[in-house]
Amino acid sequence: MKRTLLITGGAGFIGSHVVRLFVNKYPDYQVVNLDALTYAGNLENLLDIQDKPNYVFEKGDITDEARIEALFGQYAFDGVIHLAAESHVDRSIMDPLAFIKTNVLGTATLLNVARQHWKGHEDGKLFYHVSTDEVYGSLGQEGLFTEQTPYDPRSPYSASKASSDHFVKAYYHTYHLPVVLSNCSNNYGSNHFPEKLIPLAIHNIKHSKPVPVYGKGDNIRDWLFVEDHARAIDTIFHHGRLGETYNIGGFNEWKNIDLIHLLCKIMDEKLQRAPGTSAQLITFVKDRAGHDLRYAIDATKLNTELGWSPSLQFEEGLEKTVAWYLANETWLDNVTSGAYQQYYQDQYNKR
Ligand code: NAD
Ligand code: TYD
Repeated sequence: MKRTLLITGGAGFIGSHVVRLFVNKYPDYQVVNLDALTYAGNLENLLDIQDKPNYVFEKGDITDEARIEALFGQYAFDGVIHLAAESHVDRSIMDPLAFIKTNVLGTATLLNVARQHWKGHEDGKLFYHVSTDEVYGSLGQEGLFTEQTPYDPRSPYSASKASSDHFVKAYYHTYHLPVVLSNCSNNYGSNHFPEKLIPLAIHNIKHSKPVPVYGKGDNIRDWLFVEDHARAIDTIFHHGRLGETYNIGGFNEWKNIDLIHLLCKIMDEKLQRAPGTSAQLITFVKDRAGHDLRYAIDATKLNTELGWSPSLQFEEGLEKTVAWYLANETWLDNVTSGAYQQYYQDQYNKR
């Protein structure tokens, strides 16, 4: 079947894996990647598919209504997979309005244009909104987030994503826009921008620089390999029920400090350093404001309803990830030059 898909944020970390999967797996789909190429967007992530006949890149901002209108007019999309967002909690603490603009206003702009273009012929159309488990807030030591967990966002990032989720659901109920949503746990893997914990630690260990661990390193995150997230998005896009939310996660909780120790061990092996060398770089720094203690996803619904499960164990995925970063030094050097230096100073030198 032929389809024309708009994927937003396709030059980012998760978006690039989603674009690659759809372009390679569905040669009959025309995939249009709309991305503003912010600091987090990088077309180097897509070099292997950029010349494929079913792939087009469009540089543009999701808050630019006229541009979105023109793209819907030009391509007559029948599906949207919306990933474009400001995505880093620490940056949201520094500059919350940027998050409200892109994540809330940008999502609402896309919804509104899709509603107008699909009005009266919604059959076969789908607006897929990609969201995060952070909208559910912070867990204590017990329990998991299910699709019924009430929203309780606590950072400007999660508040902006929660707001965008609510608009997606509002458009479903009010206008019958065909939508589906997913809320995923923390991703890791190749092409992850080194502002986030795992790639930042890999980068710093490689350069024998301090590895900053917030607070006591007691916070817990639930980690999923990014290619497994992309597979889940493929499954939900094709088989998810309209109006539904699916939680995505691998039942893989790690305390930050334990994760960093595992990473240090893998890095010592890969860099042929004496055991314990990288762990000496661990530096406890001032905690993040409002730092959520624990995230953990119950992905039972996705597994039982749609048959998805993760393909990789964490240790294997982390080894693959480290191997990718060590083999792609130019990628890492390019993204850590220039503006990254200023960000790093602002974020870590005050701690
Ligand atoms: P990312 O920051 O790596 O990429 C975001 C992409 O969006 C970039 O390519 C950027 O250029 C683009 N973008 C930003 N603002 C834009 C705008 N106004 N218009 C058009 N493009 C714009 O983010 P990511 O980690 O790949 O996350 C992608 C999506 O998945 C986000 O919606 C995020 O909330 C969600 N998510 C992320 C995680 C995670 O662990 N990274 C987990 C669950 C859900
Ligand atoms: P991060 O990768 O920013 O993802 P999120 O905040 O969306 O979960 O952070 C993962 C965890 O690691 C989180 O508990 C904050 C912590 N962290 C550090 O300890 N040091 C760091 O330098 C960073 C970026 C994060």
